[in-house]
Amino acid sequence: MTRTAPTLFALFGNPVGHSLSPLMHNAAYERMRINAHYMPVCVDDAAEAIERMRRLALRGASVTIPFKTAVMSLLDQVDDTSCTIGAVNTIVRDANGRLAGYNTDWIGLVRGLEESLEINDKTFAIVGAGGAARAVVFGIRQRGGIPLIVNRTPERGEKLAREFDCLAYPLARIAEVSADCLINTTSVGMTPDDGMSPIVKEVLKNFPWVMDCVYNPLQTRLLLEAAQAGCATITGLGMFVHQGAEQIKLWTGQEPPRELMKQVVLKKLEGRDGD
Ligand code: ATR
Repeated sequence: MTRTAPTLFALFGNPVGHSLSPLMHNAAYERMRINAHYMPVCVDDAAEAIERMRRLALRGASVTIPFKTAVMSLLDQVDDTSCTIGAVNTIVRDANGRLAGYNTDWIGLVRGLEESLEINDKTFAIVGAGGAARAVVFGIRQRGGIPLIVNRTPERGEKLAREFDCLAYPLARIAEVSADCLINTTSVGMTPDDGMSPIVKEVLKNFPWVMDCVYNPLQTRLLLEAAQAGCATITGLGMFVHQGAEQIKLWTGQEPPRELMKQVVLKKLEGRDGD
């Protein structure tokens, strides 16, 4: 019996070795009975990623740090949402070999957040002003929420706030800010810097809800201190799972097993997978 070659997907980034995306995607394809394989590919620059994408005849790819913006000008097409956010995290190759760029981070954020909290008419203090913050602000606006940017470098926060027509505060003045929910979009708190939090714990009581986009570790210092301050907390796991699930939808046209994907990642993060 001959086995047909699997459809190939890749994750382009640098570094990519510790990503949980391959585990999550491959578990989904297995459950969906799709003969596909998703592999991490460490590249030096965006041009190398696109060259490999074309040469290896990949059906699709995820793009992560630090290439989400740099790949945009190398693609044949980029959708309007990615242009507004200024980042592409998903590449789809069509039957003619043309490469199109999309962004699923914003919908991942929206779906992850909506598992706990309705967004419409609520206020959100968004910490950070980089690529992740842009996807979060876009998602909040799409669902009728009111974003407010809080950033360490005030000018960068103000620039983002002008683009999305909202207010900005310097992180140094966060004690003056209150909102329904605070969302950390910086990488502060992520393994291996998991002893850090971007927010002084004394101000957390000003936010009934606190979400961290960091999902490794699941319980970041920010979330632990928020829980101690009496806030309801939301981990970055839902956002991670949903952004990946939306990629699978774009590549296969099918709805992926989101709960299975979440359980596979959760098991790994909690060290219950035997290694
Ligand atoms: P990404 O595209 O992943 O969001 P980025 O563009 O490097 O990454 O943006 C990182 C964000 O995290 C920035 O807003 C950065 O603040 P500055 O604009 O002041 O650089 C923020 N950030 C990084 N380290 C931080 C820290 N220790 N405390 C507070 N904010 C931090």
